[in-house]
Amino acid sequence: MLPTDTYLDHVAVAVESLDLGEKIYTDLGLNFSSEREVVKEQGVEVSFAPLDQRSRLELLAPWGEDGPIHQFLAKEGPGIHHLCFRVNDILSLCDSLRAKNYQLLYERPKKGAGGMLVNFIHPKSTGGVLIELSQKDEDSAN
Ligand code: CO
Repeated sequence: MLPTDTYLDHVAVAVESLDLGEKIYTDLGLNFSSEREVVKEQGVEVSFAPLDQRSRLELLAPWGEDGPIHQFLAKEGPGIHHLCFRVNDILSLCDSLRAKNYQLLYERPKKGAGGMLVNFIHPKSTGGVLIELSQKDEDSAN
């Protein structure tokens, strides 16, 4: 097997409130960045805590009137929401996944938290796990 450049970037947990969510993981010893980020177009506010050199815990709380996290909390309640893998070349990976009949949420990757380019693979394609793919935007050729 060739080595892979794909690694776990974050595990995302949906919470009703970032304050409550941060308290739980702070009690476990994690340290959250003091800066939270609102991703308006996705109706979400996020908070990150490092887990190791590369991987983080992401808390997702609803922001504004409506969005995917509002819907997720209404349907499923708080809990694990997605896994995010950092990849080298999100555009070609999405093309190759589409060719293998994986269902991607966006036609083209979108700007996500931290200015990353992101896309999602529908849980129907992945055995029930929502998978986010991300790549640093400045690495993108497009
Ligand atoms: Co994420």
